[in-house]
Amino acid sequence: MPQKTTISIIKCDIGSLAGHHIVPKPILDMSEERLREGQKSGLINSHYVFHAGDDLELLMLHNKGEDNPAIHELAWDTFQDAAKKAVSLKLYGAGQDLLKTAFSGNVRGMGPGVAEMEIEERGSDPMVVFAADKTSGGAFNYPLFKIFADPTSTAGLVIDSSMAGGFKFEVLDVIENKKVILKCPGEMYELIGLIGSPERYTVSRVWRARDDLICAASSTARLSLIAGKYVGKDDPAMLVRAQHGLPALGEILVPFMHSYFVEGWMRGSHWGPLMPVGLKDSKCTAFDGPPRIVALGFQVADGKIASDDNGDPLIGDLFDDPAFDLARREAVEYATALRRMGEFEPARLSMHVMEYTTLPQILEKLKGRFEKA
Ligand code: F6R
Ligand code: MG
Ligand code: MG
Repeated sequence: MPQKTTISIIKCDIGSLAGHHIVPKPILDMSEERLREGQKSGLINSHYVFHAGDDLELLMLHNKGEDNPAIHELAWDTFQDAAKKAVSLKLYGAGQDLLKTAFSGNVRGMGPGVAEMEIEERGSDPMVVFAADKTSGGAFNYPLFKIFADPTSTAGLVIDSSMAGGFKFEVLDVIENKKVILKCPGEMYELIGLIGSPERYTVSRVWRARDDLICAASSTARLSLIAGKYVGKDDPAMLVRAQHGLPALGEILVPFMHSYFVEGWMRGSHWGPLMPVGLKDSKCTAFDGPPRIVALGFQVADGKIASDDNGDPLIGDLFDDPAFDLARREAVEYATALRRMGEFEPARLSMHVMEYTTLPQILEKLKGRFEKA
C-alpha cells in the first residue's frame, strides 16, 4: 500500500508590522518554535513557517488526514500565541482574523484559511504551495484554469497521454454555500462561465479525471461572509501537485509569467495586479500592495518534506527568479494605471463586493435631496 500523507497549509493574519504589510521575525520565530514542539510530540512529521505579506502561513505534513481536530488545534494554538505576542509588541491588527475565542475542533469558519490534501505518495511527489496577500480565494481561478484546462498553457494536456482524460474542477458558490464538479475539456465553457466571476465562484479542488487523483486544493473561506461584516481579508493559499502525468512544475508556474487582475487590494475594495515575488519581497507596500503571491516548491517524502542532513526542509523559492521579472514590471505598470483612476470603477470593486464602503452613509445624508428624475 502506498503511504498516505496529509499536507495542510493553514494561515491567519494575526497582526502585522507598520500597517498590514509584513509578519515580523519574532512572530515567525515563535510560530516555528510551536510547530517544532508539535513535531517533537509526534503530531506532525514536518513543517515550514513562512509569510505572505501580513499572513502567517503554517505548512504541516502529517498522517492524520484532512480536517483533523488535533492538527487544526495546533494551528489555532500557534495563532493564539502569535496573536498574544503581536499584542505585546502592539503590532497592527493583532489577532484580526481570529474570529472566535474558543477552539471547537476545526479552524474552518473561525477565521484562518485552510487548504489540505491527503495523498497516496507516488514514487516521487513534487508539490507547490502558493500563498497570496491582499486578495481572495477567487484569485486562483485563472491560474488553475490555465494549469489544468488550457492546452495553450499546459503542453502536457496535448502531448502527454496520461493527461488525455482531462481534469475535474470542484467549484464553490461562496454566496449560497454549495458546490458543483465540472469536467474539462467537455465542460470547459460552463466552467469558465462560473469561475470567470471569482467573487462568487472559486475553484476549491482539482482531480485528474481518469483516476480521481487529487491534484490541487485551495482555501476558499470568505471572512466577511463568516462574520457578516468586514473583519479582515481572505488572503488565500493553495497546494498543487506536479509532474509524472500531472502538469510539470514549469507548466504550473507559466501562468504567472504575466500579471493578472485580482480583487481585494487596499481595504479589500479594489482590483489590483497580482505580483509574483520571492520570499524576500513578500511584503505589501504601495497602496497596501500590489497584491503579491509567493510559490514554494518541495518534495513529499515518506510523510515529510524532504530535508537536508540537519533535518531542515528543502524549499525552493520559485518566484525568486528573473523569469518573473516581466510579470513584476507589468504589475507595477498596471498598478499605476489603476491608481490613476482613483475611486472610479473598475479600479474600485463594484459596490456589492467592496469590503469597506461609505455608500450607506452617503445615501442617508443625501436622502432628502434626491428628487424624481
Ligand atoms: C488588510 C488590508 C489593508 C487595510 C487598510 C486599512 O489586509 O487589505 O489594505 O484594509 O490598510 O486598514 P485599517 O482600516 O485597519 O486602517
Ligand atoms: Mg492585516
Ligand atoms: Mg493579508
